[in-house]
Amino acid sequence: MKKIFYITTAIDYPSADPHMGHAYEKICADVIARWNEKKGKDVFSLTGTDEHGQKIENYASKAGKTPKEFVEKQTGKFKILCKKLNIRNDDFIRTTEPRHTKAVQDIFKKLEAAGDVYKGKYKGLYCTDCEAYYLEKDLEEGLCPTHKKKPNLLEEETYFFKLSKYQKKITKFFQQNPDFVEPAIRKNEMLNRLKDEVRDLCISRTTFKWGIPVPGDDKHVIFVWVDALTNYLSGAGYPGAEFKKRWPADIHIIGKDILWFHSIIWPSILMSCGLDVPKKVLVHGFVNVGGQKMSKSKGVVIDPIALCDKYGTDALRYFLMREIPFGEDGNFSEVALIKRINSDLANDLGNLLHRVSTMTEKYFEGVLPKNAAKNKLYSHMVSQLGQKGLTASADRCMEAFRFNDALDEIWKVINAANKSIEDTKPWILSKEGKTDELAAFMKVLVDILMTAAENIYPFMPDTANEITKRLTEGSIKKGKPLFPRIEESEDTR
Ligand code: MSP
Repeated sequence: MKKIFYITTAIDYPSADPHMGHAYEKICADVIARWNEKKGKDVFSLTGTDEHGQKIENYASKAGKTPKEFVEKQTGKFKILCKKLNIRNDDFIRTTEPRHTKAVQDIFKKLEAAGDVYKGKYKGLYCTDCEAYYLEKDLEEGLCPTHKKKPNLLEEETYFFKLSKYQKKITKFFQQNPDFVEPAIRKNEMLNRLKDEVRDLCISRTTFKWGIPVPGDDKHVIFVWVDALTNYLSGAGYPGAEFKKRWPADIHIIGKDILWFHSIIWPSILMSCGLDVPKKVLVHGFVNVGGQKMSKSKGVVIDPIALCDKYGTDALRYFLMREIPFGEDGNFSEVALIKRINSDLANDLGNLLHRVSTMTEKYFEGVLPKNAAKNKLYSHMVSQLGQKGLTASADRCMEAFRFNDALDEIWKVINAANKSIEDTKPWILSKEGKTDELAAFMKVLVDILMTAAENIYPFMPDTANEITKRLTEGSIKKGKPLFPRIEESEDTR
């Protein structure tokens, strides 16, 4: 049975509208998915929405809606986001779907059957935005370190999962699978936390209703994180035949704030159920805006859908992948986006295509002679400009999730090609009637653009397809600019 390459994103809380962080994560996952597909893998990629829990219930009531009405409307926006960003997800899982409820209840029963669930009382500090209990020592000045909000003191009867029982096993798993969590800095954070006591986990709640009932005890709803994590199973067709080809997931891509849930709690649940642990949890950093953490209350939120409309999807995809070294936090600003569009996309890439197409049309009526690559100049230039090794060096970066470096490799060759036009001066070759050399030179440039397009594809699929189309369909013509230059206006400066 051929294993399918299975990649997931976190599923988003549709409590508020999609923001740049959601967009960034989906783009990272999409780049990995498309690259693997190009390399011949059978890919299944999943994203979705996390629709239960107290947080959603609270937001729905603030909006004067039932939770069901509320998530119906909000989830639509996340689906639009995926479309706008040109994400090639194979499925979109919503935790309110019956296929998901079934899987979650099944997992709950499996945990019970393994003897890993007991009933007890829990008193603790709960942050509804995180949907998690905190220990006093983990708060910062009494506030949740992520949301800077005061957690509520809750006391309730709850089911516990014996997470403590898995502490040693998980530690060992980390040691035996040193690439399980990447980048290493994140792995080490988890290994450090594993040195402290790991407490059992509350896996049910009784103080609100919006969730999946505990089988046989519907006073309780299943804790939203157990519900949410199970999307990776239900969305892959658990427990059917398809699931067997997809599981274990090859990559769960997530933000750094939810790593504990993915790298400690999730593997423990899976081990308890007798299921394989995912191969990798890949952790990206946070996108800030204007140097600040995005926050609705401070008005620091950027709508990625509007940005796609304003600047184009590929430009946004390129910007985020080029500007933020994977794993680190990065900053979004419209000024920086415009700069990248004007320099890298309009000036470097767009200009190269424009010059190559214009000259091919002008000197060869759009069709280069068949034997153009046989000229000595061709092989000399191809190796000099770095076209031959480009895919291999970009691939090495992609394998290591160094996406910005992959783009850097591609741009080095694009820039070398642009410079070689200045140096070689094809217009002089034309004037002097050196047609063979001119044809060889143009062929080098066309081939460089084709190789660049191939490597650009995971990042900017439409742009790559457009370049390939213009250079391979019939005769090459001067076309519309790929990326028109953008004037910086007052409001974006
Ligand atoms: N619903 C949970 C995840 C459950 S997965 C089984 C959740 N949702 S979220 O909407 O708050 O976040 C979804 C993803 O977006 C997470 O991986 C989170 O880290 C990421 N981001 C949220 N804000 C972000 C930024 N500002 N920047 C980059 N990613 C960030 O957590």
